[in-house]
Amino acid sequence: MHFELTEEHLMIQKAARDFANDVLKPGVIERDETQKFPAAEMKQLGELGFLGMMVDPKYGGGGLDTISYVLAMEEISKVDASASVVMSVNNSLVCWGLEEFANEEQKQKYLVPLAKGEIIGAFCLSEPEAGSDATSQRTTAIDMGDHYLLNGTKNWITNGSSASVYLVMAQTDVAKGHKGINCLIVERGMPGFEIGAKENKMGIRGSDTHSLLFTDVKVPKANRVGEEGFGFKFAMKTLSGGRIGIAAQALGIASGAYELALAYSKERKAFGKLISEHQAIQFKLADMATEIEAARLLCLKAAALKDSHGDYGTASAMAKVFASRVAMWVTTEAVQVHGGYGYVKEYHVERLMRDAKITQIYEGTTEVQKIVISRAILS
Ligand code: CAA
Repeated sequence: MHFELTEEHLMIQKAARDFANDVLKPGVIERDETQKFPAAEMKQLGELGFLGMMVDPKYGGGGLDTISYVLAMEEISKVDASASVVMSVNNSLVCWGLEEFANEEQKQKYLVPLAKGEIIGAFCLSEPEAGSDATSQRTTAIDMGDHYLLNGTKNWITNGSSASVYLVMAQTDVAKGHKGINCLIVERGMPGFEIGAKENKMGIRGSDTHSLLFTDVKVPKANRVGEEGFGFKFAMKTLSGGRIGIAAQALGIASGAYELALAYSKERKAFGKLISEHQAIQFKLADMATEIEAARLLCLKAAALKDSHGDYGTASAMAKVFASRVAMWVTTEAVQVHGGYGYVKEYHVERLMRDAKITQIYEGTTEVQKIVISRAILS
């Protein structure tokens, strides 16, 4: 067991850290306030290769391992969790799913521009009545011979209005239950496909979360990913890896808030000395650092298992459930260390606290992760 990062890992970590501080940090408060999608910043992130990090270079990706992805996600999330969720969805849910399960023609047409960051993708599973209960898909994809006729509504779709390519899960054969679900590649602009309302969210406000409406959208059969009825398995397998990305996002939100609290404690004086000299603050910082380190190890373990082709479903659920709890707790403590300043926007920690909450909800709530974990330990 090795706990040291390679030279290449350290370089990627530094590149992501520099990008976060130089490019993302200057506008992050304004984007949060105005709910502005970081379009120019994502373009640059794509040019640096961070939107298709793990994709084989022959499909335009960086050919990096999942450890590198976790390191980069942590650094970007320390500063801007709205940018990091765009990055996470594109890397884990869209690029990974296509590289693993799409055919060669689909890879050339869709994966290559997605991995190069020329376009952004979205993963469309959730529905008004199918969040955690993902098998209850109401969106239908009726088999019409050479195409599917897609009808229904998707909700809370990350990259909803900024994506060009959408992986849409839909029910083709209700009688077959989850085995009747297909994953279809839907292009923005296909007739009958409309972008619905934008959500006004508590956190990750710079990311664009929308409902999507499909009315008699003709999707060619050639756009189905995998065999007929593979859509639910596609979604579950893809989410197992996606949860590593979200765990790393939670880790980054926590470590970003901790670093701000640590720096502030060495500047702020109270009762005649720096607050870092008060044991009450020292104990908080020690607890924060310990929890973050434990979350980091769980994230890296899940990533290492994925890289060594082990069974990482339980490890990714454990990383997500733990790191997201740590993110919520650490960000709350970071606001507390800042006192009144923590409650105002310019100190960044209140945003990180709002951003932290979503990590306990999306890509499977904490409760869903516990279903996954408990099934594994009881089986
Ligand atoms: N890998 C492969 N197959 C899997 C799997 C996995 N990780 N998990 C389940 N499956 C398979 C099962 O083996 C089963 O197949 P068989 O019938 O052939 O045996 C099938 O899928 C159905 O599985 P379950 O019976 O376990 O299904 P369930 O109804 O009990 O649901 C669940 C299990 C874990 C709760 C699942 O529904 C789930 O993960 N729900 C949460 C969905 C989710 O994460 N949504 C997030 C939306 S995307 C998002 O948030 C992105 C974003 O914006 C950032």
